[in-house]
Amino acid sequence: MFKKTEKSIKHTEIVQYENTVDNLAASLHPKVQHLVLSKITDLQSGYIEFLFKPDILAGTKKLAVFRPGQFITFDIEMKDMKTTRSFPLVSSPLDARSGFYKIILKREISDKVGNFILKNWREGQKFSIGAPSGNFYYEKLRDFSNVVAVAFGSGVFPFMSMAKAIYEGDENFNLTLFYESNRAKNLVFKRFFDWIASRTDKVRVVYILENENLSGCKRGIVSRDMIEENVEGGYSIFLSGSQKFYEYMKNQYFNYPPKLYRTFDLKQSVDVISQKNYPKFVSSEIFNIQVKCRNGIKVIQCMKNQTILSALEKNGINVPSGCRSGKCALCHTKIVAGQVYIPDDFDGRRIADFKYGYIHPCCSYPLSNLILVVKDC
Ligand code: FES
Repeated sequence: MFKKTEKSIKHTEIVQYENTVDNLAASLHPKVQHLVLSKITDLQSGYIEFLFKPDILAGTKKLAVFRPGQFITFDIEMKDMKTTRSFPLVSSPLDARSGFYKIILKREISDKVGNFILKNWREGQKFSIGAPSGNFYYEKLRDFSNVVAVAFGSGVFPFMSMAKAIYEGDENFNLTLFYESNRAKNLVFKRFFDWIASRTDKVRVVYILENENLSGCKRGIVSRDMIEENVEGGYSIFLSGSQKFYEYMKNQYFNYPPKLYRTFDLKQSVDVISQKNYPKFVSSEIFNIQVKCRNGIKVIQCMKNQTILSALEKNGINVPSGCRSGKCALCHTKIVAGQVYIPDDFDGRRIADFKYGYIHPCCSYPLSNLILVVKDC
């Protein structure tokens, strides 16, 4: 995966970024980046790694640098629908300056889009994406210099990027990662973290096994008590895992300053109906959505437990999207009539959205028939 030799990357191999403000802005926030899928590697552990390089022939000479913890978003065009899928970068800013991005996917994916990717993406394939995005990163004006990260399974990906960036000197904070799994064989990226932790004292890893005793690993389930036994002083906490895990941690950190508490949200599916704030009575299992487009009106249907974005996409109505978790505002859509349910954890609406009637359909569910305005359909 990441080899020792990467530390010795020669400066001449690293793309030089010009120092003017315009060039810097363009290198950080390009409107489009053309990529080639350069290499697919089976990591032999149930995970597949995808390495992307700039597509120079299509006009991208260098990749946008990013904050470790951010993600990139791909347009996915299947036979019956267009959608997007975002992935956290596991590579580091230095890797981006050296000319590549890496993402990792689990081989056993139970959703249709993930399976489509695994079956169809090929080396040499070309993609156009935007700049990396997301706000799951260390910010020295906001965070303690001690960061506690807690991850389950593939939740560990954003922390791979952070740990590597600390080791390479692009980030300067202390990372204590609590990496939990049910069994030792599922701590798939342990060797990677051990390698980094043995080379910098700014990265420390506490391994936790739920169902097994193993020397060097704690037995049990991560908790606030366990964290505070292992970390001295104030800290910011970054969580990456399932919604259930976030709820469990939120109960323990309910009184923690919100600016110091962050979750990595790339929601693919949420069981909204069982959430405690979901209305007791919803009049139907399926609702009509009237979509006012530039060229007329379309009427589509949406299940009560389906995101409005997913219903739009399945009916060929394209709304830009990125995080699919209410955070990036790319899917921002005007609602003219009707009611929606938005889980608290995904409600990224701002004051102006409430005032002018905008929702993020990526994390909104119909509670009645709706009327929406989507210009480009
Ligand atoms: S896709 Fe990011 S807010 Fe909807």
